[in-house]
Amino acid sequence: TKQLRIGLAGLGTVGASLVRLLQMHGAAIGARAGRPMAITAVSARDRKRDRGIDLSGLAWFDDAVALAGSADIDCFVELIGGDEGPAREAVEAALKSGKHVVTANKALLAKHGNALAALAEENGVHLAFEASAAGGIPIVKTMREALAGNRVTRLYGILNGTCNYILSRMEAEGLSFAECLADAQRLGYAEADPTFDIEGYDTAHKLALLTSLAFGTQVDADAIYVEGISAIAPLDLKMADDLGFRIKLLGVAERTRTGIEQRVHPTMVPRDSAIAQVMGVTNAVTIDADAVGELTLIGPGAGGDATASAVLADIADVAGTPPRPPFGWPVAQMELAERAPMQRH
Ligand code: NDP
Ligand code: HSE
Repeated sequence: TKQLRIGLAGLGTVGASLVRLLQMHGAAIGARAGRPMAITAVSARDRKRDRGIDLSGLAWFDDAVALAGSADIDCFVELIGGDEGPAREAVEAALKSGKHVVTANKALLAKHGNALAALAEENGVHLAFEASAAGGIPIVKTMREALAGNRVTRLYGILNGTCNYILSRMEAEGLSFAECLADAQRLGYAEADPTFDIEGYDTAHKLALLTSLAFGTQVDADAIYVEGISAIAPLDLKMADDLGFRIKLLGVAERTRTGIEQRVHPTMVPRDSAIAQVMGVTNAVTIDADAVGELTLIGPGAGGDATASAVLADIADVAGTPPRPPFGWPVAQMELAERAPMQRH
């Protein structure tokens, strides 16, 4: 079988981990998927930067869009970030030229997911995004494949590692918000602009994707009520603790009588509840569905290797399985759901 030639744009936290892991395990992953694979070309901004990875023998592209459209790759992996600019242009160029696309970019998909999924379907290629929601937790494949026989009624969880890391350390160690955020950035958990994390937008982007997968509806990020954690002070955590609660930033999507309700906000959760035990960069997603009942997945929500693990699973799919509708349903069959007014809980 012909080798799957991978073009990778973005060699930051996730991209550098991906290069390292593919160099170590690529042969085994290819054997398992039934098709050998290798990164053959890369793109980033700064060609001279030492990234602690071996890029020898790989073609270098200064322009990610040129890499995406290159006839010398079969699969384009986008790990740049951002909902417009080079990430969007490169993903579109790849799909239009018949390349499979793997991305971790939830901001891009929350804004343009319907159009990009339609483009992937038209061109008969994969648009795979396991890494875009909850880092290393295999929630996209769980929703799209493992729970395909269920009718989901509700989905909620901790979907941002940076926020949960900040809240956990503020509570456990009495550190300031700013100190905790600086550590999350140093560890590679935060977005390039951490406002997306702390103001709840990153959680909303992920929730928009999971809502579509859960309910078979079009991605509708604008429907989400969003409130972040930037106004949470140590005193709030202390008062919650005195009352027997912890504060968590939750994303919630629910089927109601009037439509689909989607919301993101800090929530008081009883200290002895399962979700209150989820600390640090860990994420958790709970799904209520008719056949399976209640199901919770817990695992690393951010970080280079954990996120690259999800990217690798998508690359294995590209190598070994035919494309399927990216959001589980053909875009033409996905309804734009009624937006339910937010209920007080
Ligand atoms: P980084 O900021 O660490 O890396 C971004 C990379 O993109 C850098 O290598 C940068 O180049 C490169 N880049 C920027 N502009 C261009 C361009 N025009 N052409 C080519 N390359 C470009 O980001 P992360 O690795 O943290 O995140 C990447 C993506 O993964 C984002 O969409 C993010 O939301 C998502 N994600 C991240 C997770 C994490 O834990 N970090 C978890 C899940 C998803 P240079 O290095 O030269 O500056
Ligand atoms: N900034 C994101 C987070 C990365 O902290 O969860 C993972 O999507």
